[in-house]
Amino acid sequence: MSAQLPPCVIDCGTGYTKIGYAGNTEPQFIMPSCIAIRESAGVGDQAQRRLVRGVEDLDFYIGDEAIDKPNYATKWPIRHGMVEDWDLMEKFMEQIIFKYLRAEPEDHSFLMTEPPLNTPENREYLAEIMFETFNIPGLYIAVQAVLALAASWTSRQVGERTLTGIVIDSGDGVTHAIPVAEGYVIGSCIKHIPIAGRDITFFIQQLLRDREVGIPPEQSLETAKAVKERYCYICPDIVKEFTKYDSDPAKWIKQYHGINSVSKNPFHIDVGYERFLGPEIFFHPEFANPDFMQPISDVVDEVIQNCPIDVRRPLYKNIVLSGGSTMFRDFGRRMQRDLKRVVDARLKISEQLSGGRIKPKPMEVQVVTHHMQRYAVWFGGSMLASTPEFLQVCHSKKDYDEIGPSICRHNPVFGVMS
Ligand SMILES: Nc1ncnc2c1ncn2[C@@H]1O[C@H](COP(=O)(O)OP(=O)(O)OP(=O)(O)O)[C@@H](O)[C@H]1O
Ligand SMILES: [Mg+2]
Repeated sequence: MSAQLPPCVIDCGTGYTKIGYAGNTEPQFIMPSCIAIRESAGVGDQAQRRLVRGVEDLDFYIGDEAIDKPNYATKWPIRHGMVEDWDLMEKFMEQIIFKYLRAEPEDHSFLMTEPPLNTPENREYLAEIMFETFNIPGLYIAVQAVLALAASWTSRQVGERTLTGIVIDSGDGVTHAIPVAEGYVIGSCIKHIPIAGRDITFFIQQLLRDREVGIPPEQSLETAKAVKERYCYICPDIVKEFTKYDSDPAKWIKQYHGINSVSKNPFHIDVGYERFLGPEIFFHPEFANPDFMQPISDVVDEVIQNCPIDVRRPLYKNIVLSGGSTMFRDFGRRMQRDLKRVVDARLKISEQLSGGRIKPKPMEVQVVTHHMQRYAVWFGGSMLASTPEFLQVCHSKKDYDEIGPSICRHNPVFGVMS
């Protein structure tokens, strides 16, 4: 195994894949996790595909190049964080490695990420592709939430290197609250929240459409997404926020400038209440989804309450944000305030129930925000893969050849200084 060349770090998300080399602070490429295949190509029949390898195999695109490609079908092999089509995934990886990273896979170990509750079978499929198709010397499959905890060590709020905490990972398709104790995910207590980036974009798209602000219809989604990423924030109180906008619109309303992709004429829109109403659906999900009523802070509280009693205190103290949809300004501040209210109210009730005899010890609630939030998972991977311990925990090609893919079912926790 070559120890000189840096390991490759690859985090495949439902919406975006982040790739780069260990030791860097940012991924080298961030691309949509999609692949465009020529409509006639027979994907799915592995045996046949291997036969025609070489010609047909080159006829596909991934990432931004794969979007809106005429005569190609664009497919998304990852759903809800989980790989669903391993044939497509293999092709996707091929271009990641050769076309984007321009790496010789024989020369680099790989750190790849997996969602919470990934199956051991999926780990074996991944191992098979990486060791057999690409012949890599070493593979470690890390749980995304654990990497996000490691990424938060860069924050000043976190005093020690701990792998105990609850990760709020909000990407494009789904938001998860994942409790982790000493590097191990408490799988039975994970909850998912059906509100994430895509839902906020749709909600803003609808608000803008209702106002009929003159956006070219075929550009309404990308406009809503740009508005969201550029201008949205979380407010402390929506009623007060409405009043603020109404009394001094010039101060709060932003202008968004776009270009009509067909006529090439510029267009511009005013962005008003959308700025705070969009991400408000984390805290008032019923605005966008009539089937889901629970604010994100209540979900987090419930998850922690379901965990074993001895980890609850450390979990409330280390609530770590991760993923693109936690980037809204003041997301952490609002979460901390709302959660603290829930926790304090419960302590108060238990004090009252005891007739005032028991004074519960106050609960420290701390939501950790940090600079690496956007690519927290990738950055955590980059950091851990550049430690000397990484090569020790990596599964080697030699072990794979001797024992088989089952070695990748388990990946030991590492990286915590004792
Ligand atoms: N500055 C920003 N403010 C708000 N949202 C943002 C910002 N930057 C990116 N996003 C949103 O973050 C989402 C992508 O996040 P991320 O890359 O973490 O998702 P993913 O890993 O692909 O998906 P998942 O974790 O659901 O599998 C998109 O919805 C994008 O619009
Ligand atoms: Mg993700």
